[in-house]
Amino acid sequence: MRIFKPEYKMSKTIFGGQTLIEKYSQYLPVSENTPIISLGEGNTPLVQAINMPKLLGFPLLQLFFKLEGLNPTGSFKDRGMTLAVTKAVESKAKAIICASTGNTSASAAAFAAKAGLPCYVVLPAGQVAMGKVAQALIYGAQLIEIEGNFDDALDLVQQIAAESDITLVNSTNPYRLEGQKTAAIEIVEQLGRAPDFLCIPVGNAGNICAYWRGFKLCKSMNTATHTPSMFGFEAQGSAAIAGGIPIKNPQTIATAIRIGNPVNWKEAEIVVEESKGKIDFVSDAEILDAYELIAKSEGIFCEPSSAASIAGLIKDLKNGYIPEQATVTCILTGNGLKDPNMPMEIGNEKIPTVQARVDQLKEVMGL
Ligand code: F0G
Repeated sequence: MRIFKPEYKMSKTIFGGQTLIEKYSQYLPVSENTPIISLGEGNTPLVQAINMPKLLGFPLLQLFFKLEGLNPTGSFKDRGMTLAVTKAVESKAKAIICASTGNTSASAAAFAAKAGLPCYVVLPAGQVAMGKVAQALIYGAQLIEIEGNFDDALDLVQQIAAESDITLVNSTNPYRLEGQKTAAIEIVEQLGRAPDFLCIPVGNAGNICAYWRGFKLCKSMNTATHTPSMFGFEAQGSAAIAGGIPIKNPQTIATAIRIGNPVNWKEAEIVVEESKGKIDFVSDAEILDAYELIAKSEGIFCEPSSAASIAGLIKDLKNGYIPEQATVTCILTGNGLKDPNMPMEIGNEKIPTVQARVDQLKEVMGL
């Protein structure tokens, strides 16, 4: 429940830099009068891997991670949500609604809170990481769980949005992908060029399309000489695009990308063709190995779904689709803290407990 009446102010609320919409306004459908709703999204770090290339046996690899989990609500969704909610406010929407595997709902709920808009969130019961549910709750969204999966939830909210003046903020909302394309522009700014390959997890296949729009824009503006090959990775049990057929009952431990009928499927196929890329799948075991490897070798805690990009890279380095000398960017879409149970669930090491005594501590430390 909202605790105040919405009051839209045009005044600046983000200091020490521009909002994402201000910075990229020339590429976005906004005007001087657009009431920007921002939480300080975008401008996320691009970090080079220093240990992983050697550990994987490909020391010449130039590998970069785009840390989208450092956005205000901990995922890349904030880039699209700032624009979707801004435009919803501009068009005087009464409320917003989304279906979600978790991150979209956390982001929608947060931006709705700042905008003073009611937010409805429809989740597949029991299939959303705890941190994401907690976020949507505390931001004041109305959460509803359905006995069904994400695809069912999306069908339902599309019907509700079509029959009401509630704005849908899933990636069928055109502003979402427009906002998300700014990540590709940032990568080109940070790297001084476009990477040769972009590895990215695929769920609804919106983000891969958004990045492609951004890279094409950079090429047309001559800030990049080329566009990368776009390599998207689904989870094996939910690999509708890779398998060429929707999946009725998608399965994977990577709950954020547990999607059986991606809404941006058609556009994603065009991206693959234009960029000479591909959409492939990785197994849950490969995802978890990559999830652990990046944490232990680079100090980066991403969520399991994000690690699909790294698992895919490893697979394609091994089978030769990605040459060792390439410059590759992996998109780490969400923050590992959203799914805090996962490390304990996969770790088989027992944490020792000792009495609060130095001798016992020394003994377990092997000193
Ligand atoms: N990574 C994470 C962490 C996600 O939350 C999602 C999608 C994706 C990757 C896939 O992106 O759908 O554009 O291909 N999460 C959506 C949600 C479905 O509801 O939060 P995509």
